[in-house]
Amino acid sequence: MQHKEEIAKQLAKPTGLKKEEIETILEIPKSVELGDYAFPCFKLAGIMKKSPVEIAKNLASNIKLKSPISQIKAQGPYLNIFIDKKIFVEEVLNINKDYGRDNFGNKKKIVIDFSSPNIGKPMHIGHIRSTIIGDSLMRIYSYLGYEPFGINYMGDIGLHIGKLIVAWELWLNKDELKKDPVKELLRLYVKFCEKEKSQVQEGTDEQEFENNEWTNKAKEKLKLIEMGDEKAHKIWEEIRKASGKGFDRVYKMLNVEFNEVTGQSKFSEAGKEIVMNAAKKGIAKTDRETGAIYIEFDKLPKKFILRSNGTASYITQDIAAAVERNKKYKFEKMIYVTDYRQMMHFQQLFEIIKKFGYDFSDKCYHVPFGTVNFGNEIIASRAGKIVLLEDVLKKTVEKAKEEIKKRETKGDEEKIGVGAVKYIIIKNEPQKDVEFSWDQALSFEGNTGPYLQYSYARASSIINKAKKIARKIKIPKNLNEKEKELIKKILDFPKIVKEAAEKLNPSLIANYSFELSQAFNGFYTSCKVINPEEGKETEVFRLKLVDAFRTVLKNSLYLLGIEVMEEM
Ligand code: ARG
Repeated sequence: MQHKEEIAKQLAKPTGLKKEEIETILEIPKSVELGDYAFPCFKLAGIMKKSPVEIAKNLASNIKLKSPISQIKAQGPYLNIFIDKKIFVEEVLNINKDYGRDNFGNKKKIVIDFSSPNIGKPMHIGHIRSTIIGDSLMRIYSYLGYEPFGINYMGDIGLHIGKLIVAWELWLNKDELKKDPVKELLRLYVKFCEKEKSQVQEGTDEQEFENNEWTNKAKEKLKLIEMGDEKAHKIWEEIRKASGKGFDRVYKMLNVEFNEVTGQSKFSEAGKEIVMNAAKKGIAKTDRETGAIYIEFDKLPKKFILRSNGTASYITQDIAAAVERNKKYKFEKMIYVTDYRQMMHFQQLFEIIKKFGYDFSDKCYHVPFGTVNFGNEIIASRAGKIVLLEDVLKKTVEKAKEEIKKRETKGDEEKIGVGAVKYIIIKNEPQKDVEFSWDQALSFEGNTGPYLQYSYARASSIINKAKKIARKIKIPKNLNEKEKELIKKILDFPKIVKEAAEKLNPSLIANYSFELSQAFNGFYTSCKVINPEEGKETEVFRLKLVDAFRTVLKNSLYLLGIEVMEEM
């Protein structure tokens, strides 16, 4: 609600405080009976040398009421401030499909690096978090009038590619590759790791063993690629194609798109150049014995930025990619969405950029996210311990289908299944781990995707039954508590969207959607919408309220990438 500023303005004179200061002091009371805003008088007590209770009393009787304030009451040390309900109600009545959209972003560019899986490896469930959070941030920023650019920065080079080429040459089964490219690549990768005795790692920095026969083979292949060896390049291209097929299937299911699909390998050369230059200038140091180049920091551990054999590593490429994006987009913000295990990588990256003399490092943000735990549900994939994203999605859609049958309801199993997975992931703050369970994700009750979709469908069916909503709506003289609560929740939406953008936290919108739906369901159980005892005018008003609710819920779910259905 945007009345805070106006209230602060009106309170400035009687309290003798600055408007800005009052804005920071004003609170939103927990319950609607305590008003729309509360002003605690403790601060004034110190200045006026009176008790806060006394001050509240005096202020309440002395302040002249002016719109939008309709009432001021003293309650203990607080001043409870009520906004003219007509103003709220009018706002709700004016809600249209664009409610919450804003153009305060002024077309400023926001680069979002998200999803970014490693080619050759299947997308595991961790990548879904990056994909879903990143996609939601894209939607939120664009909703607020920014111009977001989504970049899928694939891990198309690195030791894992060297490993895969070795495995490809030794063990490839062409028929299996045709049948299911993702699974065959995973089999090859796992087999290599077994030989090397490394883990089937999910992160980007591969384990590097010294003097390990298998690791050395992989390093040789990597070197061959950098030297432009034709055979190695051919296999590399095959690997890229095969895994691309798998990624596309997943993006289609999730309905996610990018403005740019690129890969680390494109930035190896530029990265090396930047690093060499820094070494020449003495900003980066060269290890006397090995020739590897590194950077030292005040507070972070030292970081190697060019391997001893001269090949680029993950960070080398990230340095060049960041520099190029800054040049290309002149972004207001650049956001990287990855696993929390890369926190150090990004801290170091942003520091390096600063040390190298670029001025955009303050505009770079990392959104780290926790793991997705499957508890007992783990469907240990035949090969390795990676939970495949595609398997999870498919299984959820399958289960959604069963649920629809069991409940004898309508609804689209894809929308419900995919929505359920997206929701259970995005309702958690990125930093927190997600406890995944199919029963929870697909439950029609509680803080779940299906519950929200169901609330939307319920509101839609009320509207559809009523057919037409009259244009002329009279505001009822008395609103009951449930109506008031719903109205207030609805009007919170624009504020929540902005907060989610500012804090890079779409879970705020998810949890808002849930609270909004709860307010609606509370309203719905206690107020009769069609043919209420209070008469036709009330019916018309309540229908409009239901309509405003479903518009806002739809917008809110849209920002999370979750689709709604008219019937369920
Ligand atoms: N490929 C990495 C992974 O799978 C994520 C890359 C993130 N983006 C970046 N510019 N480093 O974890």
